[in-house]
Amino acid sequence: MFAFLPSVASYRLQGVHAHGTCSVLGGKELRLLPSRVGCRRGSATLHMVAAEKKVPVNLFKPSSPLVGTCIYNKKIVGDDAPGDTCHVIIHHDGKLPYLEGQSVGIIPEGTDDKGRPHKLRLYSIASTAAGDFGDYKTLSLVVKRLVYTNEKGEEVRGVCSNFLNDIKPGEPIKMTGPVGKEMLMPDDPNATIIMLATGTGIAPFRAFMRKAFVEKHADYQFKGKMILYLGVPTSSSLLYRDELEEMKANFPDQVELHYAISREMKNKQGGRYYLQDSMAERGEEIWQLLRKDNTYVYMCGLKGMDSGIDSFMTDLAAKDGVNWADFKKQLKQQHRYNVEVY
Ligand SMILES: Cc1cc2nc3c(=O)[nH]c(=O)nc-3n(C[C@H](O)[C@H](O)[C@H](O)COP(=O)(O)OP(=O)(O)OC[C@H]3O[C@@H](n4cnc5c(N)ncnc54)[C@H](O)[C@@H]3O)c2cc1C
Ligand SMILES: NC(=O)c1ccc[n+]([C@@H]2O[C@H](COP(=O)([O-])OP(=O)(O)OC[C@H]3O[C@@H](n4cnc5c(N)ncnc54)[C@H](OP(=O)(O)O)[C@@H]3O)[C@@H](O)[C@H]2O)c1
Repeated sequence: MFAFLPSVASYRLQGVHAHGTCSVLGGKELRLLPSRVGCRRGSATLHMVAAEKKVPVNLFKPSSPLVGTCIYNKKIVGDDAPGDTCHVIIHHDGKLPYLEGQSVGIIPEGTDDKGRPHKLRLYSIASTAAGDFGDYKTLSLVVKRLVYTNEKGEEVRGVCSNFLNDIKPGEPIKMTGPVGKEMLMPDDPNATIIMLATGTGIAPFRAFMRKAFVEKHADYQFKGKMILYLGVPTSSSLLYRDELEEMKANFPDQVELHYAISREMKNKQGGRYYLQDSMAERGEEIWQLLRKDNTYVYMCGLKGMDSGIDSFMTDLAAKDGVNWADFKKQLKQQHRYNVEVY
């Protein structure tokens, strides 16, 4: 196990004064990204992992986790949002290389009710391989605090999501992984990427979009299109809205943003408006895009999203004499329909 404590102050300085080109986290406090990523300060090995697309998997296991340090933690939804969601930045000192779309395991502090150490929980990484500071030494997570009432009427707080929402800069975090190959970005820089996210399912797509539209890489320039459908309960829970809007303003022909705000908008039946409702409004266009061989679909977030999409795609495909279930199977085989829901 490794333990280290980076200088948080130096990160603030680098972020704010030396490298700032784009806002993150709502743009108010930190301006983090370098204009060119991965060369000067980045570790050569980590940069190579990202550049050569070697997929690092399970470098750290639960029996010997990497101990990183929280260097930033901030609630990123409004006070009236249903539930807290935070953006956490963890310093891994360059020891945990990962690719956009991978997840990391977090082992919360403490023990369970049987006195055993807690088991790990997985979180999708919300930063690019370079991290929010562009030095390949941090990773960021977006975590919703789980709180629910059990059948006895007692309030129950999820162990790891509360641990992460409450962690303070300077405190240690045990990590495993990275894991996951399902949600890796396509290699084709001309691809059309359709990203479907509910809530914190935005995590991998924030990474995709920052890699394409915020960072500058000598060896990677995205020329295609990214279409994001994001479903959240209220406008106060729209995650990363400022930075998404900034990307859209800077790349209007390449970025499309569609928000489905379930508890403020109504679908045709008068029910909650989900991202499938938004997609269905331009279903024909999506169907035609899917018929092109460089369109990729990614889905991340709640279980149940997938079936909602099947219901309207089935009819659209049928109009052209295509069986949607078979077509989707083909897309999956070609790694063009990637689903990670939980
Ligand atoms: C690949 C992957 C990526 C993920 N990425 C993210 C991410 O980016 N951000 C994020 O916030 N989460 C993410 N998750 C979910 C995350 O792993 C945890 O499951 C989540 O944070 C809850 O963990 P916890 O320790 O707080 O809750 P726990 O203490 O583990 O409690 C969860 C358990 O509580 C029970 N429970 C939950 N809700 C209710 C309810 N309403 N009524 C009754 N019982 C209930 C269930 O038994 C559930 O298993 C991801 C999961 C996977 C598999
Ligand atoms: N890689 C992964 O697998 C991964 C990564 C990140 C997160 N997750 C999981 O994704 C979930 C996200 O939850 P969250 O708490 O962050 O989100 P949230 O803030 O609750 O937002 C989820 C949004 O999706 C809507 N919704 C509910 N059912 C839906 C359905 N069947 N189809 C489409 N939209 C639906 C919700 O509407 P209403 O609430 O108004 O009904 C709400 O607007 C969590 O379970 C998390 O564990 C998984």
